[in-house]
Amino acid sequence: MSELIKIFDTTLRDGEQSPGATMNIAEKVRIAEQLEKLNVDIIEAGFPISSEGDFEAVRAISKTIKHSEVAALARANPKDIDQAWGAVKGAKFPRLHTFISTSDIHLKHQLKKSKEEVIQIAARSVARAKRYTSNVEFSAMDATRSDVEFLSAVYEAAIRAGATTINLPDTVGYAIPSEFGDLVRTLRQKVRGIEKVTLSVHCHDDLGLAVANSLIAVQNGAKQVECAINGIGERAGNTSLEEVVMAIRTRSDLLRYHTRIIPRHLFATSRLISKITGMAVQPNKAVVGANAFAHQSGIHQDGILKEKLTYEIMTPDSVGIPKTSIVLGKLSGRHAFRERVKELGYRLSEADLGLAFRRFKQLADKKRDIFDEDIESIVVEEILRMPRRFKLVYINVVAGNVTVPTATVQMEIGGQLLQEAGFGDGPVDATFKTIKKITRTKSKLLQFAINAITSGTEAQGEVTVKLEEKGQTVIGQGADTDVIVASAKAYINALNKMEFRKQKLVGM
Ligand code: KIV
Ligand code: ZN
Repeated sequence: MSELIKIFDTTLRDGEQSPGATMNIAEKVRIAEQLEKLNVDIIEAGFPISSEGDFEAVRAISKTIKHSEVAALARANPKDIDQAWGAVKGAKFPRLHTFISTSDIHLKHQLKKSKEEVIQIAARSVARAKRYTSNVEFSAMDATRSDVEFLSAVYEAAIRAGATTINLPDTVGYAIPSEFGDLVRTLRQKVRGIEKVTLSVHCHDDLGLAVANSLIAVQNGAKQVECAINGIGERAGNTSLEEVVMAIRTRSDLLRYHTRIIPRHLFATSRLISKITGMAVQPNKAVVGANAFAHQSGIHQDGILKEKLTYEIMTPDSVGIPKTSIVLGKLSGRHAFRERVKELGYRLSEADLGLAFRRFKQLADKKRDIFDEDIESIVVEEILRMPRRFKLVYINVVAGNVTVPTATVQMEIGGQLLQEAGFGDGPVDATFKTIKKITRTKSKLLQFAINAITSGTEAQGEVTVKLEEKGQTVIGQGADTDVIVASAKAYINALNKMEFRKQKLVGM
């Protein structure tokens, strides 16, 4: 019989720890709604003590989500746990997730605590969380580099104190599959009471083994996998949700397990995360990459035309890759636009729909065919990116091979209209320097990239910029038929994210 594996999604918590992937509250709520639609069992919504923004985001998500559990992360101390509960208590199915490190390296250099102290802190923290909710998860950070006897003792103490899920993180992505599988099996034999709780794994991808490690853990008795959409997360990222889910589904002949995930929502979820975080999905990414179902070689194309099974182990349909994406044009009305927005998975208020529709009409004046990607861009840029401190009002750029590139920019900052002009080495440089002057910001530009969202010369250009300030990096995106305007939007989007990032108080 096939056993259920719970999917715990940490896109909004560990995923947001990806360099540059800061999201605002509206964006996080939108992602949480999509994760619920995907049917994940648990949404880890954030780390409430880390900033006011995180606290508010967890609170807003808790109020919105109706079916999935909502988890809030807390270090193993009373203040973190109380704050996490304050944020998540409004959820229909709340979960508190508390953690402490268990490896010798972390105990000696970071925590500066003895093993005995760590056991006591773990137990006390779980007990405190338990006063608030029966649903408590405990994680032993850096578990895979910890002494197994000690790790078992910490888990036993957490279980005795009332933890209902015990999580085994490969925090630094160090384990290899055979070893990780053995560790799961060993813990199941050693830890008293483990059979009464859900055993979970949380793998990082530093050696590219996160999905393999998660699967071997499942084969050795883990019942919950922690993962993130597109595999985003701290450093090299976390286990990719879409990969682990599709591996379980596609190889059900060997893996006698199932998840509750609805695979046809995977592609849309992947795109949404990529749009909002500004982190592009590599074309050859398994399951959701642009080339995941593209057959290039003549032999493969021939085979596919004769019988899809020759070279396809899953269908694009099954993960929700649309067949054709030309949708609307200049003559399309509000009703058609509303329906398309709905089909793409966005629920907008009448006011937001009106705003998006006006922007759609402006775009349709410049561009004949409006694709799904264009509509997504409008919705994400015009609706989800609000509220913003810096807003572009207008931009005028003069450039060419016989003139000094000059940008005149007007912006609204805190309700005030400000205007400046500036020169640069090219039109983009002039634009960025002028925006920097108006906003009085000091961020350094680390990366600049332009992509066409769809095909053809009238396609919208999508610009991605990466900015750095005092060691913090953010990614901004902007789209427009004019690449200079798209560049200005991307730069301002990144500045807004940087503002949001500055509110962060503690990291991990
Ligand atoms: O990687 C890790 O150890 C974590 C824990 C907080 C679960 O993210
Ligand atoms: Zn992690």
